[in-house]
Amino acid sequence: MQDLTAIVLAAGRGTRMHSKVPKVLHEILGEPLLAYPLRLLSSVGIEKPVVVIGGDEVGEKVKSTLAPSFNVDWAIQFTAKGTADAVAAGLQNLDGVSGSVLILCGDVPLLTVETLKNFYDKHCQAQAKMSILTAVLSDGASYGRVLIDAAGAPLEIVEAKDATPEQLTVKRINSGTYIVDIDLLRDALAETDCDNAQGEYYLTDMVAFARRQGAATSIYDVVDSREILGINTRSDLIQLETFMAARISRYWLDNGVTVRSSETVLIGPDVKIGQDSEISPGVSLLGATTIGDDCYVGAGAQIKNSIISDNVDIKPYSVLEDAEIGEWAMIGPFARIRPGSVIGAEAKIGNFVETKKVNFGKGAKASHLAYIGDAEVGAGSNLGAGTITCNYDGFNKFKTVIGKRVFVGSDSQLVAPVTLGDDVLVGAGSTVTKNVAANAIVTTRTRQKEFSGKGMAWRRQANEEK
Ligand code: UD1
Ligand code: CA
Repeated sequence: MQDLTAIVLAAGRGTRMHSKVPKVLHEILGEPLLAYPLRLLSSVGIEKPVVVIGGDEVGEKVKSTLAPSFNVDWAIQFTAKGTADAVAAGLQNLDGVSGSVLILCGDVPLLTVETLKNFYDKHCQAQAKMSILTAVLSDGASYGRVLIDAAGAPLEIVEAKDATPEQLTVKRINSGTYIVDIDLLRDALAETDCDNAQGEYYLTDMVAFARRQGAATSIYDVVDSREILGINTRSDLIQLETFMAARISRYWLDNGVTVRSSETVLIGPDVKIGQDSEISPGVSLLGATTIGDDCYVGAGAQIKNSIISDNVDIKPYSVLEDAEIGEWAMIGPFARIRPGSVIGAEAKIGNFVETKKVNFGKGAKASHLAYIGDAEVGAGSNLGAGTITCNYDGFNKFKTVIGKRVFVGSDSQLVAPVTLGDDVLVGAGSTVTKNVAANAIVTTRTRQKEFSGKGMAWRRQANEEK
């Protein structure tokens, strides 16, 4: 399909979402809606599609969100005057280009590569100048109805709002996806008016135009009509997210991954999972996340943009973002692994431990209740319960460097910038403010005092004073 050009329509107002956020930026499985058609185009080898956005701050927001991840040729439709007008705006970026153009809607996320290829094959076989991707529904609802001739070729599309009661009984509907000869499209748009129930310029008028010109037209009916569902409301959004999540979980179940209570699991479209890994109920794996082989991801864990090596054990309710976890490491339960955390092989990050921007060495441990941020922790070190790297003085962040095989006793604060050499031992309850040389013992506690026989006397006095 590399020979096709593409135009994606995304300048509609999306009023039925009742939202400050542009419709195509609402997310399904952590990805904006518009990312789905763009990813689809790139998987069929169509480079740099034209995407039509609005000329206001809404359009700007769409552009700034998607531009870092996709190579797009942006076109502006200044006022949303209908789908024909939107395509005309897109065509301004295709001056001098001929051949065929694939037109997609930015709010139709479920279309598959397979369907698109079948549609294209049918268009080529029929030697058509214009083809429509269609679906047969039991109720055509508000979709445009596709009227065909005796040979099965489309004659025209009638919008639901303009249709006669008899036309409304037609079950074949227009998905809003087309392949059209660009010259034919230019001619059709030049003739389109807005003389219809919605006062809009309808792209769908190009079908009747093509027929008047004697151009060959064709349709392709999708096998699973859910694929062409568009999103107009938040309830559509959630319905399609559920459908997409089920499709992805099913894929992983068929490819060597155990996904328990899969209807409660959300796995993003870019996530990869290795063989014999197990995903528990309520887990979400989003963004560019990779899970290795033989991993366990416990209930309720949320993992985003992270790389998890083989044999990692992530216990329930842990939250990981922009992190890397080495093989055989153990994380959680209830751990929070924040951006920039690189956790070494065989390391252990236990319950209620938070890490951020840390290089946590091989086999190192922070098993309970700790904050380790802006730090290096050498291999084999052990940070006791309540260890805190004090990385922030209210203005700037500072680094804590902990050597290899260091033992930090419970409830110690390491006030950065500070360096502990290899094999240091920090006594429990210490506040370390100066660098400690390798192989030293450091303790900053005040000495314990004991006043014998005073316990009950103190209690009596306290009661009398009440
Ligand atoms: C359109 C089709 C209808 C089809 C349906 C499929 C027309 C006239 N009708 O109707 O036959 O069944 O899609 O979902 O084309 N857009 C713009 N600028 C505009 C108007 C729309 O960019 O001025 C974009 C929207 O962002 C959206 C797409 O075009 O991505 C479709 O627009 P929408 O208003 O949803 O079309 P429908 O009324 O659903
Ligand atoms: Ca409309």
